[in-house]
Amino acid sequence: MNNDKLINKIILGDALKILPQIEANSIDLVLTDPPYFLDKMDNNWNHQTVSTITDYCHVVKSLPPGMKFSKEQGKNFYEWYLRISKELYRILKPGGFFFSFSSPRLYHRMVSAVDDAGFLIRDCFIWLYTQNQPKAMSLNHFINKLDWDKKSKNELREKLDGWKTPQIKSCFEPIMMAQKECEKTFLDNMLKYNVGLLNTNVKIGEDMFPSNVVTTQMINGNIDKCFLLTKPTKEEKGEFNIHKTVKPLAICEYIIKLTTFSEETTILDPFVGSSTTAIAAKKLGRKFIGVDTNREYVEIALKRLENVEKGQVYKSKKAEMQLTLLEAKGKYIVNKKRNK
Ligand SMILES: C[S@@+](CC[C@H](N)C(=O)[O-])C[C@H]1O[C@@H](n2cnc3c(N)ncnc32)[C@H](O)[C@@H]1O
Repeated sequence: MNNDKLINKIILGDALKILPQIEANSIDLVLTDPPYFLDKMDNNWNHQTVSTITDYCHVVKSLPPGMKFSKEQGKNFYEWYLRISKELYRILKPGGFFFSFSSPRLYHRMVSAVDDAGFLIRDCFIWLYTQNQPKAMSLNHFINKLDWDKKSKNELREKLDGWKTPQIKSCFEPIMMAQKECEKTFLDNMLKYNVGLLNTNVKIGEDMFPSNVVTTQMINGNIDKCFLLTKPTKEEKGEFNIHKTVKPLAICEYIIKLTTFSEETTILDPFVGSSTTAIAAKKLGRKFIGVDTNREYVEIALKRLENVEKGQVYKSKKAEMQLTLLEAKGKYIVNKKRNK
């Protein structure tokens, strides 16, 4: 097994089928933003359904995202992510880091899966923001439907004024930081694999020692001074990008700079979406492998990557960047050629 033909490619396929084809101990960093398993945002991700959920507005047609509260979501997430994490453990180099975005609600399930797969859970980063739509609902709609007289309903409405369903405004996303065990000491591991330590020369905000809090919007002076990374621009996302959960490039760049020692490193994102991780890797001169099940997203990813190239950011590396749209269901070009 050799990764040569996967390098700098966005692969259309299911991560569970593609990951077993990656060489053991070959990846320096896994940086990913998997489906969070809230409502329909699971491993059977469907763009249409996800769009309906995320475009939810105040009209009470259906329950808002995150409202459908089922114990099964967490269990399914755990079981699926355990299988994914076992594969990631195999393909990461000793000392290699694994960063995974998640939701506050199901973070515990995700981290338990990663822990049970053998990783050391090193930390939890938080991505802090204030701009998010609160999802709590008032109960007026249900009070109106009660078979009570008008006066009693009015009294109840008054009594419960301001009391809403248990959904606090969500103002952060947790990002798990895990690590595959090192071989011998940190130093031995670094000398052999070029991975396992953190680059504390990376500065965030105004010359702040790198920390586990990041924000990409201005909140207030002190917070911005310590934790503010570059704000995402419209150009960064791409006008054509219809993906609903695009992550800020600056967070990906920050994590890559923090954890990868040389330009020879390979960064894997098994749920690459519109390819923010791959773009960050490319911008920083690192190699990448991206995987996503959705053809439309893969096409967007390739277009975004081409745009980085057009910006002539890495002119000299152009030859390396042969981005090919590969075929679905694990039967991608590499295998087809091999099987001939
Ligand atoms: C949260 S999004 C990632 C968004 C990405 N960070 C970005 O900035 O565009 C998760 C992605 O996982 C993909 N996905 C869902 N199940 C998958 C699977 N089994 N294998 C690979 N990709 C999958 C979805 O199509 C979706 O694009």
